[in-house]
Amino acid sequence: MSLTIVSAAEVPLDAQRAAFNRAFAGYLAGSMEFDAPGFARFLCLQGADLWHSRLALGADGAPAGFGYLNRTLGIARLAGMGVTPEARRRGVAAALLDHLLAEAQRRGDAVMTLEVFAQNDRARALYEARGFRVRAQLFGWRRSAEPPLPDGGAEMREISLAEAVAGTCARDYPARPWQVSRHLVARMAPGARAFATADSAARIVVTDPSAEDRRFAAWFTADAREDHWPALRGLTAEVLRRFPGQAWRAPAIWPEDFGREVFAPLGFEREALHQLFMRREP
Ligand SMILES: CC(C)(COP(=O)(O)OP(=O)(O)OC[C@H]1O[C@@H](n2cnc3c(N)ncnc32)[C@H](O)[C@@H]1OP(=O)(O)O)[C@@H](O)C(=O)NCCC(=O)NCCS
Repeated sequence: MSLTIVSAAEVPLDAQRAAFNRAFAGYLAGSMEFDAPGFARFLCLQGADLWHSRLALGADGAPAGFGYLNRTLGIARLAGMGVTPEARRRGVAAALLDHLLAEAQRRGDAVMTLEVFAQNDRARALYEARGFRVRAQLFGWRRSAEPPLPDGGAEMREISLAEAVAGTCARDYPARPWQVSRHLVARMAPGARAFATADSAARIVVTDPSAEDRRFAAWFTADAREDHWPALRGLTAEVLRRFPGQAWRAPAIWPEDFGREVFAPLGFEREALHQLFMRREP
């Protein structure tokens, strides 16, 4: 298939959005269909850098595939990849990914990361064949308003998002996914809130609690030892108590141990699909 690979900065956003919506129609985690503002917001929250992202144009000049790239601290993250249905199985994704990897190598990017649904066999095969290896399993959780919370309250104070990201953080991107990193929190939409234990050693960030879809967005701890679990569990329970009668969810980007130690004991239920956090060393 004749393809021209160009920077996303050279292609009108509406043409990119049309290709994106077509590639993600019928997606296994649910179709994604963005209007113009929604697409801009999605790219911003993914940290997609249009200058370094690449589109594959078919013979008619229309985008047949895309690989959005996030570059943070010299680390590349594949923030979204897809190929329109009629162009699939002809090597478009493989060509785009090889191109992005070669450019990352020339720039000296340290590693490339991505998240992919474990059940997305096609995408997984593509990434594994190019040297990406699974670093962690990532799960999504949901909690209705009903389950009772354990007794006893932890001392909790509200902090600014700036304080949440500025505090000591034992493990951050790229040791964990970008989507639960301080880089993502730094660009969250207005209405997001952050809460900390009295000593600020554990911090939790949530999206706007007054919105219909309220999510746990990220957490930070000052140290990486195992003994932060009771503090995080207590803090999460306090956040739930602060907004009573509300349902919450955590998208499929939370590591297995957090779910086991915090969400499951607090009455959250695990979602059926889960993601893999993959990394490829240079
Ligand atoms: C996943 C996707 C990007 C692959 O695009 P594509 O252009 O069809 O992929 P390619 O033709 O370059 O194939 C690359 C590799 O993927 C794998 N693959 C592609 N289609 C496959 C299929 N139908 N079944 C199994 N493996 C498949 C193969 O390993 C293939 O390598 P090969 O050269 O040995 O055949 C495309 O199917 C898509 O857009 N899916 C929906 C959106 C999506 O899932 N995006 C990824 C989110 S992380």
